[in-house]
Amino acid sequence: MPHTIRVWDLPTRLFHWSLATITVALVVTAKLGGNAMEWHLRLGYAMLALLAFRLVWGLVGGRWSRFASFACTPARLRRYLRGEGDGAVDSVGHTPLGALAVCTMLAALLLQVASGLTSDDEIAFAGPLARFVSGDTVGLASWYHKEVGQYLLYVLVALHLLAILFYALIRKRALIGPMLHGDKRLPMPAPSSRDDARSLVGAAAVLAACGALAWWLSNL
Ligand code: HEM
Repeated sequence: MPHTIRVWDLPTRLFHWSLATITVALVVTAKLGGNAMEWHLRLGYAMLALLAFRLVWGLVGGRWSRFASFACTPARLRRYLRGEGDGAVDSVGHTPLGALAVCTMLAALLLQVASGLTSDDEIAFAGPLARFVSGDTVGLASWYHKEVGQYLLYVLVALHLLAILFYALIRKRALIGPMLHGDKRLPMPAPSSRDDARSLVGAAAVLAACGALAWWLSNL
């Protein structure tokens, strides 16, 4: 009999769909340019708050959202790729390969935000950290932000969507549903992620603190 397991708690699901929406909005506002850049900066701070939230939630959030549950060590990854992994554990949260993709995407998004904070277009817009570093560093950050980071993210998001499609069509594993309603139906029992009013209040407090950090940075 299949077991219904709460894998993604509500804060993780809200994080994911907000992250996807803000990523798209950041690209659109950057391409529009002009006055839309005001929104690009605001959305960048929102992205910073979200990413900071996920880093903290990776330590204190629901069981399957914690980094400890999807530690992508080379050994675990090798076993998984050879088909020798622990199928039961690997199918609950992120698979080792999925975990690697998630960590890479979060790191690339963090680097994109950090380089944005230190960029200067030498016309109208500069990140709040640009005046604290040397001209060379600003040049490097601006170059990375515009010429490298954005393309790296396009590739990572495209791989992410292709992987979801691969799992849906070839492996017959629907991953999108659980990211919407939180539950997976699995053939074996597994502990659920905590997902109650208390964890929601905790998540709201963490997000408020991360929002305050982003606000403080924006006012430097
Ligand atoms: C710019 C767009 C997107 C970005 C930056 C993004 C990023 C991410 C990240 C960081 C995670 C890990 C979630 C966590 O553990 O906190 C994730 C997971 C996931 N995303 Fe996305 N995502 C995007 C768009 C989408 C879209 C459009 C879909 C659906 C078609 C989707 C479906 C999923 C699913 C199903 C998972 C869970 C994968 C698993 O079970 O291991 N994502 N995404």
